[in-house]
Amino acid sequence: MADVDFTHTTVEMRGIVKKFGSLVANDHIDLTVHKGEVHALLGENGAGKTTLMNVLYGLYQPNSGEIFIKGDKVEVTNPNIAISRGIGMVHQHFMLIPPFTVTQNIILGKETSGPFGVLDIQKAAEEVKAISEQYDLYVDPDQKIEDISVGMQQRVEILKALYRNADILILDEPTAVLTPQEIREFITIIRNLTFQGKTVILITHKLREIKQAADYCTIIRRGKRIDTVEVEKTTEQELASMMVGRSVSFYVKKEARIPGEAILQVKDLVVRDNRNLKAVDGLSLEVRKGEILGLAGVDGNGQKELVEALTGLRRVESGGIFVHERDVTNRDPRDIIDSKVCTIPEDRQKRGLVSDFTVEENIILENFDRKPFSSRGVLNFQAIRDYAGKLIDTFQISPPDGTVRAGTLSGGNQQKVIIAREVSNDPDLLIASQPTRGLDVGAIEYVHSSLVAQRDKDKAVLLVSLELDEIMDLSDRIAVIYEGKIVGIVNAVDADENTLGLMMAGGGQENG
Ligand SMILES: Nc1ncnc2c1ncn2[C@@H]1O[C@H](COP(=O)(O)OP(=O)(O)O)[C@@H](O)[C@H]1O
Ligand SMILES: [Mg+2]
Repeated sequence: MADVDFTHTTVEMRGIVKKFGSLVANDHIDLTVHKGEVHALLGENGAGKTTLMNVLYGLYQPNSGEIFIKGDKVEVTNPNIAISRGIGMVHQHFMLIPPFTVTQNIILGKETSGPFGVLDIQKAAEEVKAISEQYDLYVDPDQKIEDISVGMQQRVEILKALYRNADILILDEPTAVLTPQEIREFITIIRNLTFQGKTVILITHKLREIKQAADYCTIIRRGKRIDTVEVEKTTEQELASMMVGRSVSFYVKKEARIPGEAILQVKDLVVRDNRNLKAVDGLSLEVRKGEILGLAGVDGNGQKELVEALTGLRRVESGGIFVHERDVTNRDPRDIIDSKVCTIPEDRQKRGLVSDFTVEENIILENFDRKPFSSRGVLNFQAIRDYAGKLIDTFQISPPDGTVRAGTLSGGNQQKVIIAREVSNDPDLLIASQPTRGLDVGAIEYVHSSLVAQRDKDKAVLLVSLELDEIMDLSDRIAVIYEGKIVGIVNAVDADENTLGLMMAGGGQENG
């Protein structure tokens, strides 16, 4: 291969095309990764990052294109081939066995045999310990996976790859599940790995992490490689524009306001999860008129169950929910909507929209049985069309056609349909749960300004999000949830990431 200098190149992908039916997930992507660097793959949700790495790891076969690993052209027809060439991949969803110990999980599938073919756990455990010391990847080898934090589980995944002698590590959205402190430790670990000659391919959509951790960054948009840049010489703004395809604004404009009386009051709430454990465990909070209260927390600390209880989708075991001092505990969803509570639900496809219904039908979903949309059981199509048309226009929903099925819209436009429907009901309380998850930067900008607009109209807004930056940018007050309880409430102007991060990890007990 005369045109590539393989002395430093460790992975070279050329012209990779991967189609799923008619969808081209990777459209002639080239990628060059040098030994010992951190190479970020940046792109919005659905850009094709994971697909490209699954191709490299042998989980998907490309329709065309070539792969070179350490100079050799390789047909990576399955992950064993990738592993034998020194590639390790840590997926977005970990693949560990919860009741097994750390060591058992690491050695699983690559057990060391003793002299009589007996599994030599002792020897394996020592090897694991040596690797973990070498890379500062501290774990307790005898703990069960189910008893350790998500951050620790991630280390186990990395150790598992290193134990298989990986020197090229693919990490897919590794920080999505971590607290700010864990993210910092994680970045140090990555640096450690590359100092010792490992190569890291880091998939992410977080610009700040790229600036902190990566040497080079390849930007992918809609299946195509846009560019590869040296991170040091590129600003976050430039990265964002390449990712989205136009310039974007990061800043949410927000004037100071004095909040009014409490619209939502939650008192000593106890709610159980699907496993019948107390997911919300004596939680109290208030959201006032004209404020955004952000609920920060690591995933799985009761946020989902809280929102379900507030919207009438999950039974409250004890405690109470009051809207305008009226008790709505254990009322059905319809009754709660009638109390002027609106929701942007966490799961757009499942709870927010009926994909097979048209945009028009989705817009009147909660009001179709009322005037002017229907009278005496007969739908008034003209009234529906006029109303939907107005909202499509106001909220700039694309395509501007109420008769298309909602499922065919992009994520951002689906979210606009939900926001249009919910806020046009003129709620007093808006509950927004993970409102920007999976959206591109442009749509995020839109959602953020919609939430601030509601606050400025004197609505109460409860914002539940796993994105701490989003919480810090938008909120007036920030409540931190940990193991189903509020462990602290701070004014957003006084909040700093460190303190919030500590609270999110269960430290700090100040109540406000
Ligand atoms: N196994 C699959 N079958 C069908 N479509 C897929 C599959 N995997 C990914 N896709 C589609 O390919 C596109 C790229 O997805 P993905 O590589 O996961 O994006 P990213 O990791 O950048 O978020 C998306 O439109 C996604 O829906
Ligand atoms: Mg992905």
